[in-house]
Amino acid sequence: MLYFLDTANVEDIRHCNEFYPLSGVTTNPSIIAREKKDFWTLIREIREIIGPNKLLFAQTVQSKAEKMVEEAKLLNERSGGEFCIKIPISEEGLKAASILKKQGIHVLMTAIFTPAQALIAAKSGADYVAPYVNRLDNIIADGTNVVAEIVKQFETYPLPCQVLAASFQTAEQVHKCAAAGCHGVTVSADILKAVINYPMTDSAVLHFDADWKSVYGDKTILDF
Ligand code: G3P
Repeated sequence: MLYFLDTANVEDIRHCNEFYPLSGVTTNPSIIAREKKDFWTLIREIREIIGPNKLLFAQTVQSKAEKMVEEAKLLNERSGGEFCIKIPISEEGLKAASILKKQGIHVLMTAIFTPAQALIAAKSGADYVAPYVNRLDNIIADGTNVVAEIVKQFETYPLPCQVLAASFQTAEQVHKCAAAGCHGVTVSADILKAVINYPMTDSAVLHFDADWKSVYGDKTILDF
């Protein structure tokens, strides 16, 4: 399971990159716009934090395949390390994906809402597809089940495309994607924190601490 952070907020990226096993950072035009910064400055800042070996995803803002390819090449050259272009699924997007595949540029096909879209994206050469789990849940379309169906399709055919589920509001959705064999998730810092949070863990640690202190006081193992 790969964990990506779905934000361009440098404070969140710095924090989560230090404490969590992140494989990289995903962005999209809304996420970038939220930061209200110069685009390349922001890309540089993110890259400085995650280093050259982790994957950085940025999304094309073009609607024609040739222009998508142009943007993808520019981003790939200037992103400072491992990079993947995000392209929303469309006819033009599929064409761009197959061109970029031949040029060795990684593609994530995004805004996926059905297994049928995911399958054709994978056939066109996408390295990743991003189904939007919470947006599906919000229309009572069972987002985690859509993820499970996509995973199954890629096993059935089989296609070298990974399912990188996106759009999460709960840790439960992340858990269900993992249970379905999803290859990766991209989540906010809050969801990452929710994934590890459990009240009984806190109480167990308090108990360990109290038992230790009752015998050894403030000494730690380093003091023996
Ligand atoms: O990467 C796509 C994702 O950011 C969409 O998430 O929360 O806007 O549905 P959301």
